[in-house]
Amino acid sequence: MAHFTKATSVKDWLNQRLAVEKVEKVMASEYWIPKNINFLWAMGMILAVTFGLLTISGIFLLMYYQPSVDTAFYSVNYTIMREVDFGWLWRHVHGVAASVVFLVIYIHMFTGIYYGSYKKGREMIWISGMLLFVTFSAEAFSGYMLPWGQMSYWAGMVITNIFSLGSLHLDGLVEWIRGDYVPAQAFLNRFFMLHVFLLPLAIMGLIGLHFAALRIPHVNNQDGEEIDFDVEAKKYLDGDTKGSKVMRFANDFLSKDLMVVGFFLIFFFYLVFWHYGFALDPVNFDPADGLKTPAHIYPEWYFLWSYEILRPFPVDIGLVAFGFAQVIFMLLPWLDRSENTVPANRRGKFAIWFWVMLVDMVVLTAMGKLPPEGIFSTIGLIASLLFIAMWIILPFITKNEKKV
Ligand code: HEM
Repeated sequence: MAHFTKATSVKDWLNQRLAVEKVEKVMASEYWIPKNINFLWAMGMILAVTFGLLTISGIFLLMYYQPSVDTAFYSVNYTIMREVDFGWLWRHVHGVAASVVFLVIYIHMFTGIYYGSYKKGREMIWISGMLLFVTFSAEAFSGYMLPWGQMSYWAGMVITNIFSLGSLHLDGLVEWIRGDYVPAQAFLNRFFMLHVFLLPLAIMGLIGLHFAALRIPHVNNQDGEEIDFDVEAKKYLDGDTKGSKVMRFANDFLSKDLMVVGFFLIFFFYLVFWHYGFALDPVNFDPADGLKTPAHIYPEWYFLWSYEILRPFPVDIGLVAFGFAQVIFMLLPWLDRSENTVPANRRGKFAIWFWVMLVDMVVLTAMGKLPPEGIFSTIGLIASLLFIAMWIILPFITKNEKKV
C-alpha cells in the first residue's frame, strides 16, 4: 500500500489518490502543441463540441420520442415540435448539428490529407478518425429512421437492400437485418437502440482512442517541420517561451481553439434559428407509407458522393465500386508512398491529385442529388471512374516523389 499522509488541501487529498496534477500535466499544461498551425487545427475541437451538442439535444428529444411505428411520426412532428416547450429548438439543434458535423468532418479530413497528417507515426490517428467517420455515418443513418417519415422508410428500404449483394440475392440477410420482410416495428426498435445507445458508446470510445493516438506523435504543423518536442518543451519550461516552437495545450492553445469554436457557434445558431430547413427533408414530413414510393429517393448531402458511385454502373459493379469508396480512405497512409510530410502545394503531382479529388467529390455530390438521366448520368459515370482511377494511380505518383 502506498504511503498516505494527512492531506493539507482537497487538491492534495486528490493528488495522493488520483495523481490529478500529473494527469493535468500530461493532458493539458505539458501537452505541447506547435505554434505554426492555423485555424484549420481547431476543427477537431469543433467536432468534439458539436458531438456534445448532439448528445445534449438528443437526450432532451429522447424524453418525448416514442419508438413505435404508430406513434413515432407524431411524437416528433406533433408532440416535440408543437406541444413541448422549446421542443422545436432541441429538434432544430439536433438536425442542424447532424448535418453541419459532416461538413466539419470533411474539412478536418481534407486538412489532414493536405498536410500529410496521416504519416510517420500518425497512422493510428488516421485510422481512428476513419472509424469515427464510419460510426458517425451509421449514427446519422440510424437517426434518420427515427421520425418514421417517407424518407426514413424508403431510405431504410434502399440501404438495407444493398445487403442482398446484387446477383448473390442474399434476401435472407436483408430480412435478418430488418427483422421483417420490410422495414417495420422490429426495424425501428433496433435502429433506435443503435442510435441512442450502441453507436454513441462506440463514438465516445473512438474519440478517446483518437485523442490518445495524438498524444505521442503530437499534431502536425502547417510547414511540415519536424519538431523535436522534448527539446522545444525544455526550452519553454526554462523560460524561453518566445524562442520555443511549441506552446501548452491549456490554456494557450485552448484559448485560440475556443475563439474559433465561438465563431463556429455564431454560424451554427444562425442556421438553427434562421435556416434550419436545409437539414430537414420536406418529403420526411409525410408519414411512412409502404405503398407509396417517393419520386426520387436520395440520401442526405453527406452521403451523396458515395451514393453516386453506386448508381451509374450495373448492380454488381456498382456494389464493388461503392464498397471500394467506403474503405479506400482508410488505406491512405499506405497508398501514399512518399516520405514527405509537407503541405500538398510543395508535393508536385500530389497537389494536383489533392485538388482533383476534392473537386471530383463535389461533382459526385452534386450529381448524386439529381435524377440519373441524360447528361447527369454521364457526368456521374465519368466522375465515379475518375474517383477510382485517382486512387489506383496514387501509389505510382507518390512513389518517386522528390524528397523535400
Ligand atoms: C468526428 C469526430 C472527431 C473528433 C472529435 C476529432 C478530434 C480531433 C482533434 C481534437 C484533433 C487535434 C486538433 C486538430 O487537428 O483538429 C484531431 C486531429 C486529427 N484528426 Fe480528428 N477528430 C474526429 C474525426 C476525424 C476524422 C473523420 C478524421 C479522418 C480520417 C480525423 C483525422 C485526424 C487527423 C489526421 C488528425 C491529426 C492532425 C494533425 O496531426 O495535424 N479525425 N482530431
